Amino acid sequence: MSGELAAQALSGLGDRPFGVYVHVPFCAARCGYCDFNTYTPGELATSAAGAQPSTWLAAVRRELELAARVLAAPPMADTVFVGGGTPSLLGAGGLAEVLGAVRETFGLASGAEVTTEANPESTSAEFFAGIARAGFTRVSLGMQSAVPHVLAVLDRRHTPGRAAAAAREARAAGLEHVSLDLIYGTPGETDDDLRRSLDAALGAGPDHVSAYALIVEDGTALAARIRRGALPAPDQDVQAARYELVDGVLSEAGLHWYEVSNWAASPAARCRHNQGYWLGADWWGFGPGAHSHVGGVRWWNVKHPARYAAVLGDGHSPAAGRESLTGKQRATERVMLELRLAEGLPAEALDDAGLRAARAAAADGLLRPDALAAGRAVLTDRGRLLADAVARALIP
Ligand SMILES: C[S@@+](CC[C@H](N)C(=O)[O-])C[C@H]1O[C@@H](n2cnc3c(N)ncnc32)[C@H](O)[C@@H]1O
Ligand code: SF4
Repeated sequence: MSGELAAQALSGLGDRPFGVYVHVPFCAARCGYCDFNTYTPGELATSAAGAQPSTWLAAVRRELELAARVLAAPPMADTVFVGGGTPSLLGAGGLAEVLGAVRETFGLASGAEVTTEANPESTSAEFFAGIARAGFTRVSLGMQSAVPHVLAVLDRRHTPGRAAAAAREARAAGLEHVSLDLIYGTPGETDDDLRRSLDAALGAGPDHVSAYALIVEDGTALAARIRRGALPAPDQDVQAARYELVDGVLSEAGLHWYEVSNWAASPAARCRHNQGYWLGADWWGFGPGAHSHVGGVRWWNVKHPARYAAVLGDGHSPAAGRESLTGKQRATERVMLELRLAEGLPAEALDDAGLRAARAAAADGLLRPDALAAGRAVLTDRGRLLADAVARALIP
């Protein structure tokens, strides 16, 4: 079994926040816009045995054993995030087993944040009660929209009211944090449609919302529909105006941005697990296609669940590749990720050319001059619309 980490990568392990991600690669059906590493029962039926939830869990357990050996003294997990795919397809019992296995290997730090993603249609009041009992503290529900014609273009299976109802059930079950994902800029969506979705989301009382501009990913059914002219492509200017609408409505309701695509009701409601990704913490991603980062070493697993189970079954590491980040790579990633945060990026992360670019961006109204004078590069409202372009200009 390979997958060893150099002593240098392991030094200081546990001094930095440690996150555990578990990838559940199953969905009941594929949404037309999605290119995540996930498989429907139909897609799995034609592949080798070993690509079913039960064999997946056995393989994840083996990867946990591997992690225990490689890390020697696995740190307590500060955050656990079960994502997908559709983790709620495992049911509360399956998710409890996953969390139990993570607990056995890592243990949970006191006050750990334990999140699962869930699709509204595979949840119920009993489901939320079950995951709360198992120790989950947070749920992130894929709402996307509350408008029937928008949900139809996105190929979503849930009825327009189900996501908000699920969020209420999650709250009632005692989950401390409830987040809703929205997508804006879907072809055919109007400003009023988006307002309706935002009102429906806010009506359910979430303490966190993620809102993403629809991205047309190559190879998806949505891309094919746009290519053959059955749907118009999303319009960049419309998406920018919609972002402003989202930000205005959420801020008005007391949810404030802390990352370009994420809003929270308080600092305690921010997703600590994702903050770990953005701030360069350590995490081990378990499951097919999952990515990991420990002490400047990054690796990623084989993508297909059958291959993942087979490699682990043969006693090998499921890593498909790995790299030690160079100083330049780390600096680049730091700018790309931290500039998107409301706290911004410390100016000392920039070289002279980056600082000059930051001053130019401040003069153009894209970075806050007051924050820059105080030593941080912080996006203005207009800068948030161009976050990636501003970051590229600042890269060392
Ligand atoms: C990996 S998905 C998993 C969540 C869950 N399976 C669901 O769909 O409800 C996480 C979120 O990514 C967002 N997402 C996925 N594909 C996207 C795309 N092409 N454009 C914009 N957002 C996307 C959606 O908001 C989705 O809820
Ligand atoms: S349910 Fe979520 S992960 Fe599955 S295909 Fe749809 S967007 Fe992708």
